[in-house]
Parts: sequence; structure tokens; C-alpha cells
Amino acid sequence: MEIQMKQLSFLHYFFFFFALIITGNQLVQGSSNHHHHHSHHHHHRNLQQHHGNRIGVSKLFVFGDSYADTGNNRRSAGSWSMPYGITFPGKPSGRYSDGRVFTDYLASYLRIKSPIPYKWRKIGKEALRYGMNFAYGGTGVFNTHVPEPNMTTQIDFFQTLIQEGAYTKHDLSSSIALVSIAGNDYGTYTGNNGTDEGLPAFITSVTNQLVLDVKRIYDLGVRKVAVTALQPLGCLPRSTVVSSFQNCNGTQNTAVNFHNQLLQDAVVKLNNSTKDSAFVILDLYNAFMSVFNSQKDKAGSLKFQNPLTPCCLGINNQYSCGSVDEHGVKKYGICNDPKSTFFWDTVHPTQQGWLAVYSALRGSLDQLYH
Ligand SMILES: *[C@@H]1O[C@H](CO)[C@@H](O)[C@H](O)[C@H]1NC(C)=O
Ligand SMILES: *[C@@H]1O[C@H](CO)[C@@H](O)[C@H](O)[C@H]1NC(C)=O
Ligand SMILES: *[C@@H]1O[C@H](CO)[C@@H](O)[C@H](O)[C@H]1NC(C)=O
Ligand SMILES: *[C@@H]1O[C@H](CO)[C@@H](O)[C@H](O)[C@H]1NC(C)=O
Ligand SMILES: *[C@@H]1O[C@H](CO)[C@@H](O)[C@H](O)[C@H]1NC(C)=O
Repeated sequence: MEIQMKQLSFLHYFFFFFALIITGNQLVQGSSNHHHHHSHHHHHRNLQQHHGNRIGVSKLFVFGDSYADTGNNRRSAGSWSMPYGITFPGKPSGRYSDGRVFTDYLASYLRIKSPIPYKWRKIGKEALRYGMNFAYGGTGVFNTHVPEPNMTTQIDFFQTLIQEGAYTKHDLSSSIALVSIAGNDYGTYTGNNGTDEGLPAFITSVTNQLVLDVKRIYDLGVRKVAVTALQPLGCLPRSTVVSSFQNCNGTQNTAVNFHNQLLQDAVVKLNNSTKDSAFVILDLYNAFMSVFNSQKDKAGSLKFQNPLTPCCLGINNQYSCGSVDEHGVKKYGICNDPKSTFFWDTVHPTQQGWLAVYSALRGSLDQLYH
């Protein structure tokens, strides 16, 4: 049964041209705060600068896919099996990485614990304290090939919790939302259609829907909404494998740029139409690119010798990271040191990769306090 499910999720990789399967998790959130003490001083200064001591961000609400999920995905998903989670928390935790994902770093920046996955919302009042993570790996704004809630449904969950009194107006007005869309809609589209024909029109409908979703989260009372621009899909290892992880696929990145331009234009407009300028774009595209390009000329721990090569890979193209055969024999290999690679599997960054992306975005995060 377990193996069958794994084969299924492995098939996803091949049928979804752009597919991302992303998840997230939990229990361990306390430790995500230790990671960036160097930056805390800085936030603190910022808070003081702009708002005195009065306004702090107490909660983070997260929507989207595997780049943000910390454990909502079903247990049969790849993120719940070895070797996912080996760096943090030391075992599979539902995160699609060897360790922490972007949500954990953003929470640390806000000086709160990583919000618990929605799946665990019933474990007590304390569970609600830092917000909630509604993100499910593999999802998009529209339905994808994974049977998990799309973004509209994720926001419905949030709205229902608010209606049930889980969060007060004040809770919401001192909270920030993270909206992650890493490309699953496009994988599904290409998989269904078999070609990229009609893709520009589809990109328009994805970004239109995304902007509606972002606006709806704001209308529910959240103070700031940060939405990610798409990362360079053409640089993911599943696309670069054909060049032995050397060259990004320019065609795919062109489509990504179109998505990002539409998103930027619409969000600037939306920002302008709300009196408190509540919308922020987190530019994952340039963050990924700057990490890829900086490895040669920058010293320090955040350089990656072969930035497009993943750490964890199936032994051949029939297998993926985490695959085991019917006898339980591993059908994947992992690198010696996950800290040395940007990508974990063929789609998702390692913890060290996310740390580098977070560092690249660090300056733009200050907009969240303006
Ligand atoms: C989200 O999922 C629900 C349930 O499957 C579906 O009814 C709805 O149309 C979907 N929303 C979008 C925008 O695709
Ligand atoms: C395929 O593309 C066309 C537009 O070119 C679109 O109308 C149709 O819905 C797509 N089919 C699927 C299954 O996504
Ligand atoms: C790049 O992506 C396009 C669009 O998906 C695809 O048709 C093409 O074969 C890819 N190019 C390479 C070199 O893989
Ligand atoms: C934003 O709004 C201001 C007025 O509040 C206007 O002058 C400016 O042109 C707008 N910018 C965009 C990009 O819409
Ligand atoms: C929205 O306005 C705020 C305040 O001017 C700014 O910090 C933020 O970058 C703007 N967002 C976008 C997407 O332009």
C-alpha cells in the first residue's frame, strides 16, 4: 500500500511537466527560531523605527504549496518518508526538503514560531497562537493532480476558523499572510493538454485567480499579504537534468517571466487601491537567480558549487528521491552533505538553499513592517 502510494506520487513527477509536490510540518517549530539570531537585532530596530514597541506581528497565516507546507500533506506523500527531514528535525516531517522551508525562515524573521499545519489545529488553544499553515504540497490556485485543497479551499478553511472565533480582529490585524504559488497549476495544465498551447491565456487566468485570492485574504482582516513571484521553473533540476544540471530551460523561464509580470502589475494596482498598501511581492525568481550566480564571486557559507545539481536523486529516471522498491530497497542516492547543495530533490531547495533564498530576500522583507 505504502509502496503503491509512493509509486503514484513518483508518477506525478513525470506526468506533471511543471509539477511541484510540496508539504510541511510542526512539533519542532521552536527550534526554527534559533537560526537567525543575527537578523533579530535588525528586525527589532525596524519595528522600533516604524512603530515603536507598539505593533508587533503575532501571527503568520500561510497558503499555497510544497514551498510553504510544513506538514499538511497526507502521510503517504513523499515528504513523510526518508530521507526527507534528515537535517531537520532529523526525520520526515512533511516538509519537502532535508530540513526547514521558507515558512520557517519567514516565521523566524517575524520572531514567532513556525505556525502549525492546519491538520493539527485541534491540539489546543496554544496551537493557534502563531497563526496557521494552510499550505498543501502539490496544490495550486486551481485543482491540480493531487487530491488536496486548492487555494480557494485553503482560504475557506481560514474563513471558517475566523467565523468560529479562533482569531479576533486584533489577531488578524497584527498578522501577516504568506501566499506561495510555485507552479503546480502549470504542471497540471501541460500534463492535461500535452502541449504548451494556450499557455499564455492560462497564465493570465492563474494570475487573475491568484490576485483574487490575495485580495480575499486581505479582506478577511490580515494586515499584510506577501505573495511569491514564481521561481525560475526552467532551472529546477527536473528541467536541467537534460543538460546534466548545467543549463536552465529558457522557454520555461520566459513563461515564468510572463506570470511574474502579470502578477507584479496586478498586485501594484491592488496595493494602490488599498489605503494601507498591504501587498508585497517576494521575488523568488531573482532570489534564486542571485544565489545561482553568486556562487563564484562570493565567499561564505551560502555558496553552492554546482547550484543546479540536487542532493537527492533516484538511481535512474524511473525513481526519485525517497523511492524504494517492493523489497524496501532504496532506489535513490543522496549527497554527502546536504548543506553543500542548493536543491534537495528535483524540485525543492535544501534547508541551506532556503536559507540562501531567505538571505537574498531579507532586504525586501522589511516592507512587511511598513
Ligand atoms: C477549488 O476546489 C473546489 C473543490 O474541488 C472547487 O469546487 C473549486 O472550483 C476550486 N476553485 C478553483 C478556483 O479552481
Ligand atoms: C487545453 O488548452 C485549451 C486552450 O488552448 C483550454 O481551453 C483547455 O481547457 C485545456 N485543456 C485542459 C485539459 O487543460
Ligand atoms: C524546454 O522547455 C520546453 C517547454 O516545456 C520544451 O519543449 C523543451 O524541450 C525544453 N528544452 C530542453 C532543452 O529541454
Ligand atoms: C498609485 O496611486 C497613486 C495615487 O494614489 C497614483 O499617483 C499612481 O500613479 C498609482 N500607481 C500605479 C502604478 O497605479
Ligand atoms: C505596496 O506599497 C507598499 C508601501 O508603499 C510598498 O512597500 C510595497 O512594496 C508595495 N507593493 C508592491 C507590490 O508594489
